[in-house]
Amino acid sequence: MAYAVRYSQYGDPDVLSLDQIPTPEPGPGQVRIAVRVAGVNPIDWKLRRGFFASGQQPEGPTGTGLDAAGVIDAVGSEVRDWKVGDAVFGQVSTGAAATHALAEPDKLLAKPAWLSFEQAAALPVVVETAYRALGLLDLKAGQTLLIHAAAGGVGLTASQLALRQGVKVIGTASERNHEFLRELGVQPVTYGDGLAERVRAIASDGVDAVLDASGRDVLGVSVELTGDPNKVLTIADGRAPEYGVRCSYGSSGTPLPQVLAEALPLLQRGELRIPITHTFPLEQTADAHRLSEEGHVRGKIVITVPESLRSE
Ligand SMILES: NC(=O)c1ccc[n+]([C@@H]2O[C@H](COP(=O)([O-])OP(=O)(O)OC[C@H]3O[C@@H](n4cnc5c(N)ncnc54)[C@H](OP(=O)(O)O)[C@@H]3O)[C@@H](O)[C@H]2O)c1
Repeated sequence: MAYAVRYSQYGDPDVLSLDQIPTPEPGPGQVRIAVRVAGVNPIDWKLRRGFFASGQQPEGPTGTGLDAAGVIDAVGSEVRDWKVGDAVFGQVSTGAAATHALAEPDKLLAKPAWLSFEQAAALPVVVETAYRALGLLDLKAGQTLLIHAAAGGVGLTASQLALRQGVKVIGTASERNHEFLRELGVQPVTYGDGLAERVRAIASDGVDAVLDASGRDVLGVSVELTGDPNKVLTIADGRAPEYGVRCSYGSSGTPLPQVLAEALPLLQRGELRIPITHTFPLEQTADAHRLSEEGHVRGKIVITVPESLRSE
């Protein structure tokens, strides 16, 4: 048997339950992962709330979580590149908050021994999104990028990658995150009323581009600061068309393992840091969702599968 955190109706974190279910069997072209750690992303609670469901309820019990790290414990037919016992991380197609999850092999990368399961599970969504967003913004060394929500998972990843390209990064965050951002090389600025003046005061050469990883009504001020909606990209605000700014959802087309492989050497050398600030056991997935939904996590939340629930 397996355990999976699931919901059968959209709503508050209380709709989540840890269910005992038959162990899922991989179909042709799939592998099964004995999950050690699942990463938490805001998309998990947005899906659980039914934000993209157009008023319909889920068709049946639905798993939660995209990012996972674990060990392959079953391989479907037609799978060539993976075998039982391989430690992997990436994105799964059934919920990651579970003892077992099914995945498509092309969404997985081998987990190197130096990378912990916790750190591996924290990477896929934020690393893919940060690379995608920076690719679209196409900044040059010496230019200035404003990142809204720079202390969150995507924001701090994009900040560090942009800094490596020689881009100057100004990042919005609350005061308690300013020292943390300064240590990364980001010029922190407090969000809220008066943001444009505070940014202008430190951006002596103006703002060349904006990445909105906040989604909290910052598109107007972002267009004001850049003077051009084309220089603003949001990953979190559905009102992008109202402001004429660009939005990006989903994948860039670059295979996920390729993007993750690019980030690994930076992580290994400590040149990219994606701190895990909160860890919950699988039974407390609802609390992990609550915390993510409050919107003030620095870095990442992960969920660990306790040994008592593992069947390895
Ligand atoms: N389109 C896509 O493909 C895609 C992919 C990934 C994520 N996303 C979306 O992008 C957003 C960010 O994702 P994430 O994983 O980085 O989220 P996250 O880690 O949950 O972000 C939390 C951060 O938001 C900051 N924050 C809260 N209120 C803020 C405000 N008013 N202004 C600026 N920062 C504020 C917090 O900083 P303080 O504690 O200092 O307030 C905290 O560090 C989410 O909406 C997510 O759904 C979209």
